Amino acid sequence: MNQDTALPHSAAAVADDPFTPPASSALWRSDFLLGAATASYQIEGAIHEDGRLPSIWDTFSATPGKVLAGDTGAVACDHYHRWEADLDLLESLNFEAYRFSIAWPRVMDEAGRPNAKGIAFYKRLLERLKQKGVRTFATLYHWDLPQHLEDRGGWLNRDTAYRFADYADLMSRELSGLVDAWMTLNEPWCSAYLGYGNGHHAPGLANGRYATQAMHHLLLGHGLATNVLRANDPASTKGIVANVGRGTADSSSPEDVRAARRFEVQHNAWILDPLLKGAYPEELFELWPGTEPLVLEGDMKTISAPLDFLGINYYFRTNVKSDGAHGFVEVPLKDVERTQMGWEVHPDGLRDLLIGFGRNYENLPPIYITENGMASDDRVSDGEVNDTQRISFLKRHLAAVDAAIKAGVDVRGYFVWSLLDNFEWAFGYERRFGVVHVDYDTQVRTPKRSAELIAHFIAQRRALDGA
Ligand code: FCB
Repeated sequence: MNQDTALPHSAAAVADDPFTPPASSALWRSDFLLGAATASYQIEGAIHEDGRLPSIWDTFSATPGKVLAGDTGAVACDHYHRWEADLDLLESLNFEAYRFSIAWPRVMDEAGRPNAKGIAFYKRLLERLKQKGVRTFATLYHWDLPQHLEDRGGWLNRDTAYRFADYADLMSRELSGLVDAWMTLNEPWCSAYLGYGNGHHAPGLANGRYATQAMHHLLLGHGLATNVLRANDPASTKGIVANVGRGTADSSSPEDVRAARRFEVQHNAWILDPLLKGAYPEELFELWPGTEPLVLEGDMKTISAPLDFLGINYYFRTNVKSDGAHGFVEVPLKDVERTQMGWEVHPDGLRDLLIGFGRNYENLPPIYITENGMASDDRVSDGEVNDTQRISFLKRHLAAVDAAIKAGVDVRGYFVWSLLDNFEWAFGYERRFGVVHVDYDTQVRTPKRSAELIAHFIAQRRALDGA
């Protein structure tokens, strides 16, 4: 293969390639998908256009003190207007799959009627991806709840789960045949815990009892929506995306070991047990006494409807010790590698979690890593961004995925978070997660070296495959 024709950008960037996995890696299999991920509120902007209604993130980010530097998603990456060029960029970087999310407030009005202009945007996007031969992974809910639903209680109101199923019904009728994989919810842990439990995210409520009830309604909405998606769009696959956390014990004392287990119960089993075992983990309510949600007959059956795949988002590990009672406290490790977020770089955590899920859940569906990546303070210099820490981060996490596959876990693909630098929720624009740099003053996109190396790897795979 001629390297120069395979490379979208500078051949020099890959001359000394620190990225390509070893020949023995399962990642060379051409059916292991390599993709990039984004989310509507983080990239689209155009919050008042074509009938889009306000979302809880518009309200939250406009509230002083909630988001770093007072940033909002009003403009973000202006992707609503620049989507064609962004998809060309995605294609030039050789990504085989694109995970994006649909903004609920763009596609439905308050009465639940379709908003044709908003729907047309996603249709155009999906049609273009199909023309390019890119696999389409659409998330229905990546946190931008219509504000009018929050005004009626949001995820604390059981009715929101049914409104979510209506939204899934509309989308799967309108977009049927264009979506390869549907994801109902992105990271219900964040929606429930950060949104209703500690208030760090929209809508900004802080009550432990709220968190468990919001979670129950989110998962109920997932189950109802999954049934609707199956009926309307049988050819696609259906899943959900969970963020998972690795907890390790600060000492080998039984108390600290239990604390680490409870960290993982709170982060992982809280979501995965109801989905895959049809019950909440009892230990959750020992950790948070008195927070049992109201569960109606039949709910757990709806929630545990079979999944075609499970999306896993993984970022870091947390070292914990016992808090002296039922719970855990973090003990930050010294002298470990961290990212711009302060998150510890710990690829083994991803491997260990995947292998652990394989052991713990008999019916574990095939897995996609739907997000993994890191923030760094990237700057453009001479037209290039040399994001060396990210290159090493991605390489090590892909190796962890390979190790899990070799240990028998069925992992089918990996999406880097994120295609573009974007609005990083409560941290605004300061934290740059993209493999493509965005200059927010000019909206100029500059692929970072990590993007060029991923593109190079995919090109090598294609060449081997004779594609
Ligand atoms: C995840 C979110 C995603 C992004 C990354 C860094 O929790 O799903 O939108 O912000 O974290």
